[in-house]
Amino acid sequence: MHQATDIFLKMFLDHFNVNPTLFDIFCTCTTVWLIKHLFNFINRLQKLPPGPWGLPIVGYLPFIKKDAYIQMTELGKKYGPVFSFKGGQFDVVVINDGKAIEEAFKNDHLLARPNTTFIPGQDHSIFEMSGETWRQQRRVALTILRNIGLGKSTLEEKIKEEIGLFIDSLKSAQGKLVDFSEVNGLSVANNISILMFGHRFEYNDPFGIELRHNMKQVSDNVDYFTKFIFTTSLSFLIPLAAHFSSDHEKVTSNQKDLEDKVTIEVAKHREKQTTHEIEDYIDGFLQEMDKQKDSNTSFNINTLRRNAADFYAAGSDTTTHVLNFMMLYLVTYPEHQQKIRDEIKQTIGFDRQPDYADRASMPFTMAFIYESLRMSTLVPLNVLRRATQDTKVMNYSIPKDTLVILNFWAVHRDPKLWNDPHSFKPERFLSEDETTVVKSPYLMPFSGGKRICPGATLALIELFLYLVSIVQNFQVSVPKRTKISDESKYLFLRTVKNPVKLNFHTLNEN
Ligand code: HEM
Repeated sequence: MHQATDIFLKMFLDHFNVNPTLFDIFCTCTTVWLIKHLFNFINRLQKLPPGPWGLPIVGYLPFIKKDAYIQMTELGKKYGPVFSFKGGQFDVVVINDGKAIEEAFKNDHLLARPNTTFIPGQDHSIFEMSGETWRQQRRVALTILRNIGLGKSTLEEKIKEEIGLFIDSLKSAQGKLVDFSEVNGLSVANNISILMFGHRFEYNDPFGIELRHNMKQVSDNVDYFTKFIFTTSLSFLIPLAAHFSSDHEKVTSNQKDLEDKVTIEVAKHREKQTTHEIEDYIDGFLQEMDKQKDSNTSFNINTLRRNAADFYAAGSDTTTHVLNFMMLYLVTYPEHQQKIRDEIKQTIGFDRQPDYADRASMPFTMAFIYESLRMSTLVPLNVLRRATQDTKVMNYSIPKDTLVILNFWAVHRDPKLWNDPHSFKPERFLSEDETTVVKSPYLMPFSGGKRICPGATLALIELFLYLVSIVQNFQVSVPKRTKISDESKYLFLRTVKNPVKLNFHTLNEN
C-alpha cells in the first residue's frame, strides 16, 4: 500500500514536472499550517461556552429556524445561560440570562458591531459602526438631537401637534374600520422626520408615502438573524448569498431609493445653509462636515445619507409596531382600556391634550406601556455585537471577534423573573397598593449600557402620548365575533402577524 502511494506520488511529480524538494517544503508548510489551525480551533473551542455542534464551514446556520429567538431560548435551557455555536466562519455566543446581560451591558469590549454592513456592499451607518468612529458619530448625533429638542418640551409640543392631526384623521374615519398600522405609521414617521429633515409630511404627500414605503420594504425583507449572520460570517459568499436571496434586490433597491430621498432633503438644506441656525440632524451634520472638512473622518455625505436613513427607519417602524401591539392589547383586554380611561378622567380630563409629565400620576397607564414592551419584545435578539478583545461574561469566555447576541426574549419570558410570564398583566409593574409604577431592571426593550437605543426617551414619550390621546378620544374595539390573534412574525423586529382592522368610536366626553 505504502509502495503504491510512493509510485503514484512519483508519477504525479513527473507528470507535472514538480521539483521534489519544493514539494517536500510545500507539504511540511501545509502540515504545520493545518496543525496550527487545528490547535487554534481546539484551543478556541475549549475556551468557548458549550453549545450545539454544526456542519463544517456553515456551522449551525442551516439549523436556525425562522423564530430564532424561541429556538435560542430553548437552546439556552439545554446548554446554559451563556452558550455558543459556530455561525459560518465566526463563533457566536448567545447570552440568555438577565444578570449575564446586565454584566454584558457594562463590558466595553462588547460594544462593537460585526465588520460587515447590515445591507451588504454599503458604507457603514451609525447603527453598524464600531470603535472610535462609532463613538464620534454617536456623540455628535446625540448632541445635535438634544440641541434641536430631543428630551425637551419643544419637541414634545411638535409631537403633540402631530398627534392632534392624527386624532383628527381618526375622527374623520368615524364609522369605518381602520387599518391602524398604516395610518399610524405615517404619523409616527413624521416625528422622526421633524428631527431628521426639520418638517413633517402631509399624510397624502407622495414623497412622504414613498419614503415610508422604501423603509418598510427594507425592514419587511431583511431576514436579519438568519441571512445577515450567514452573509456576515461567510463574507466570501455574499455575492452568492445575495444572488440566491429573492429579497436582496428589494432590500438594496429600496435602501438606495430611501437614501436618494435623504440626498434630496440634504440638497434643500444646502440651499438655505448660510444664514439659518441648526434646526435638524441634517443641518447639524452638514455643519460638522464643514468643521472637519480638512481631516479624513467619517463625516461625509455618504455617512449622512446612511445615518439619516437608518435613524428614520429605527425611529419610525419600531414605535409604530409597539403601538400596533398596544392596540391589540387594548381590544383584547377592554378592562385595561377602561382603567387607562379612568386615570385620564382623574388626571387630565377630556378637554386638554396629555403632557408627558402626566405620567407621574398615571401608574396603571405606565404599567400598561411597560407590560406591552415586555410582552411584545420588539427586538427579541439584539442587534449583533462583536467582542473586540478576549473577554468574559459570568466567567464564560468570549474570545476576540466572537459575535454576541443578547436574547431579550429569554429575559422577558423568564419564569424566574416574572410570575406567569406569558400572560399580559400590567399590575406586575405596580407597587402592592397599586399607587406607583415599579420598573424592573429586567425590562430591557431598548437594550442597555453605552450602546442603548438613543431613541428610548423619544419612543417612551411617543408611546405615552399616542396611547393616552387615543384612549382619551375613542373607545377602541373590533367588530363582534372578530378573532383577535396575538400571533407574531419575526425577521429583525417581532411584529403583529395579522393586525385586525379597528373601530375608533368617538367618546361622548369629547
Ligand atoms: C419602541 C421603540 C424602540 C425600540 C424597542 C428600540 C430598540 C432598540 C434596540 C434594542 C437597539 C440596539 C441597541 C444595542 O445594540 O444594544 C436600538 C438601537 C438604535 N435605535 Fe432604537 N428602538 C426604538 C426606537 C427608536 C427611536 C424612536 C429612534 C430614533 C431616534 C431609535 C434609534 C436607534 C438607533 C440610531 C440605534 C443604533 C444605536 C447604535 O448602534 O449606537 N430607536 N434600538
